[in-house]
Amino acid sequence: MRKLPFDRNWIEETAKKWPTPFHVYDAKGIRENAKRLKKAFAWNDGFREYFAVKAAPNPHLMKLLRDGFGFGSDCSSMAELVLAEKVGNVGESIMFTSNDTPAEEFLKAWELGAIVNLDDITHWDFLLETLAGAGVGRDFAGRVMCCRYNPGPLKGGNAIIGKPEEAKYGFTRDQLFKCYAKMRDAGVKRFGLHTMVASNELDPEYIVDTAKLLFTLAGELHDALGIDFEFVNIGGGIGIPYRPDQKAMDLERVGEGIRDAYCELVEGKGMKPIRLYMECGRCITGPYGYLVAKVRHIKDTYRLYAGLDACMSNLMRPALYGAYHEIVVPGKEGAAERKVYDVTGSLCENNDKFAIQRELPVLERGDYVVICDAGAHGHAMGFQYNGKLRSAELLLEEDGSVRQIRRAETLDDYFATLDFPSP
Ligand SMILES: Cc1ncc(COP(=O)(O)O)c(C=O)c1O
Repeated sequence: MRKLPFDRNWIEETAKKWPTPFHVYDAKGIRENAKRLKKAFAWNDGFREYFAVKAAPNPHLMKLLRDGFGFGSDCSSMAELVLAEKVGNVGESIMFTSNDTPAEEFLKAWELGAIVNLDDITHWDFLLETLAGAGVGRDFAGRVMCCRYNPGPLKGGNAIIGKPEEAKYGFTRDQLFKCYAKMRDAGVKRFGLHTMVASNELDPEYIVDTAKLLFTLAGELHDALGIDFEFVNIGGGIGIPYRPDQKAMDLERVGEGIRDAYCELVEGKGMKPIRLYMECGRCITGPYGYLVAKVRHIKDTYRLYAGLDACMSNLMRPALYGAYHEIVVPGKEGAAERKVYDVTGSLCENNDKFAIQRELPVLERGDYVVICDAGAHGHAMGFQYNGKLRSAELLLEEDGSVRQIRRAETLDDYFATLDFPSP
């Protein structure tokens, strides 16, 4: 059974001020984890994590990671760029890893001095056109340009991200050589190289292999084009153990494995030092966010249903991917009497279920349930289908205090975009 950083009393007190459902993030857990990540890669001079904003786009969390640990922001949209700017992550503290990118987002990223990570060979000319159209100077010498590599078929691919050759992202190998040559000829002097071939991956060797692939490719690009790489970015995708039988990623093993690869493929080949970057989201905040909800109804038909006051607009991973999230019932952790439930939300969608046929302590109306590992790609994926509103986000500080870092939506928010009087 998962150990929570709060208990039923805390929920009862907190819910008086912020009614359920709400998301709560554990600041202590996030900080300890960030420290561990940095330590595992401390051997690499200039190692940097660019927190994937899409995982938890809340400026309070982004600031916690920036101020405490120097984490940059990996952005993929205008809103994420503006969030990064607002928390003080500008210049090379932003990695702009986008795809199907509109001109105004390239322009914003350029104006912020972000590291622009191109997703396609045609985007280099598109960027040049965009800058010319906006009358922006083309000082490429000081800019770091990066390209996203799609290696095509890889030993079976990764469960969530699928097979790279079926993914819409990135350049082929041949395109990569052509684009770096074009950028070099246009006056770019600073380069990075990116790929992301994993999602929710728990095998350390997969991440080490990603780094090996990039170190090798950086060497080949150097030999062919005479350019040096300041960094390689291994993307996000480090997994977390959603299921009780899964083991957390061994970050120290990943760090050591990549260090060995670095010694062999970078230092051993006489290449200039390369900084290691990553843009993880899930493994940074995922295990430290909880969706707290209340049992609204118990229904006994062909199955036993526990209907919550939360629904898939608060956490859609189970409905979207059939993802498993552990559920804890505070105050009933050790209960001997258990039953099997489908734990549902109130959307008119039969897949609005947080758990299917899950054995839990016997539930009653008014019980609180805590859905674990909701701290990344959780609140962020929320939507308003069926007129459901998104919940508040709270931050549990190390001293036990709690503060709201995003209020719950109201009906006025729902009506805000309608050209019609609000109620
Ligand atoms: C380009 C890119 N970078 C980073 C991430 C973060 O992935 P994760 O949260 O699994 O680490 C994603 C996730 O979708 C992504 O698309």
